Amino acid sequence: MSKQTSGKKATGKRTPDARTGGTRTGGRGGGRVPAPATEPAATPADAGGASRAAEVSRRRLLGTVGAAGAAGLVAGGAGGALAAHAAQDPAPTALTSIGATEVAFRKTHATHQAGITTPLQATGHLVAFDLAPDADRKSAAALLRRWSRTAEELMAGRVPDADTGVALDAGPSSLTVTFGLGHSFFGRTGLTKRRPVQLDPLPDFSADALDPQRSNGDLWIQIGADDALVAFHALRALQKDAAGSARLRWQMNGFNRTPGATARPMTARNLMGQIDGTNNPKPSDQDFDERIFVGRDAEQAWMRGGSYAVVRRIRMLLDDWEKRSRHEQEKVIGRRKANGAPLTGGSETTPMRLDATGSDGLPVIPANAHARIAAPASNQGAALLRRPFSYHDGFREDGAPDAGLLFVCWQADPLRAFTQIQRKLDRGDALSPFLRHEASGLFAVPPAAEPGGYVGRPLLEG
Ligand code: HEM
Repeated sequence: MSKQTSGKKATGKRTPDARTGGTRTGGRGGGRVPAPATEPAATPADAGGASRAAEVSRRRLLGTVGAAGAAGLVAGGAGGALAAHAAQDPAPTALTSIGATEVAFRKTHATHQAGITTPLQATGHLVAFDLAPDADRKSAAALLRRWSRTAEELMAGRVPDADTGVALDAGPSSLTVTFGLGHSFFGRTGLTKRRPVQLDPLPDFSADALDPQRSNGDLWIQIGADDALVAFHALRALQKDAAGSARLRWQMNGFNRTPGATARPMTARNLMGQIDGTNNPKPSDQDFDERIFVGRDAEQAWMRGGSYAVVRRIRMLLDDWEKRSRHEQEKVIGRRKANGAPLTGGSETTPMRLDATGSDGLPVIPANAHARIAAPASNQGAALLRRPFSYHDGFREDGAPDAGLLFVCWQADPLRAFTQIQRKLDRGDALSPFLRHEASGLFAVPPAAEPGGYVGRPLLEG
């Protein structure tokens, strides 16, 4: 990695994010965010030798001389008169707040990894790797160390020395890289005794049509960024890091709404047109941590502060769905399409009145409405944090779109959350006839790396 001057931490104000309940730094949803006035000075560690002095933060350079000039300079080896000029400029113009927004990688900022409570980004890649046949615990540790280093650098907006140039013009763009371990990882590394029971395979559900080739895997990475090139760049760098140690098992590419596309910050919409994410648990909820993150008394100490991700590729039968009237579609979910309000009235944030009946004596929110069946009240309090990406992989032979949701949900215990809710949905959710679950994965996502460490170190070296 190049040793450029210290990347700035988050700039701009933090705004609540309705989709994951988290906050982000920088502008979203069309709101104008004050651009950072200045870049922080280089840290003493960064301010070292003469060659380093000639190097300059990619973002600072961009802010001063413009993207095109900066890209050429950095790609050409940085340094030089322009770079030195840039470093001395007292009032550089900042990148847009979207490009400049940075999410921290290490535990100094949060116990859990980034990409869980981080607001949804516009582009996502979900990828699984299998360890090489001759892999062992040591080589797996070395891979996670390399991956963590790369993730930290890229999330801070720094580019590798011998880089492809793909992301040179952009800031970190809210890049997050999140690492998970699958059930099979533990057998491959001789660590089965330390495999948490929460990683036991998910049960079969009647609606499953799962493709094993696109399911599970030894290792999983979730990449998200508000710029597609930044996300691709990260994916490519991580794939190169894996060479010889692990090979790609499957990859899924997704997207969400572009920051600034809506006139105000709002909850995401999915490809069925519904506002999706309204009743997610919020970090401000008293029981949020308990529901989403592994507690301090967990049997496997290395997972404390971590979380479990369930990943499902869920194809939407959009040709069937779009034939239904808006009224019918709203009854399937139990909420209005336009604003996400429950059918019992109010606004998006008004609680659903599950016991309300209409003049016909029937429940206003139908007995099989998705939001009713998935609600904590119907599942002994079970809740999970949904953080999906939409996907569109072209068209199938019958002409139907191969499109849907890369459903990613987070919880402290999948058996008590995803499995409990999905079992219930499987038995009579009005949405199920419009969905096909085509791939599935369950991954243990350890807490964030300690300073100087890497993700999974307490497991691999403990
Ligand atoms: C493509 C598949 C799916 C679509 C399009 C979808 C769509 C929606 C929509 C529109 C809502 C209402 C708004 C909201 O609270 O977010 C909702 C709620 C919810 N969904 Fe789904 N969903 C899907 C799959 C799933 C799956 C697989 C699960 C879990 C196993 C799930 C769990 C939930 C939960 C827990 C809620 C909140 C219920 C509440 O507390 O009100 N969904 N979903």
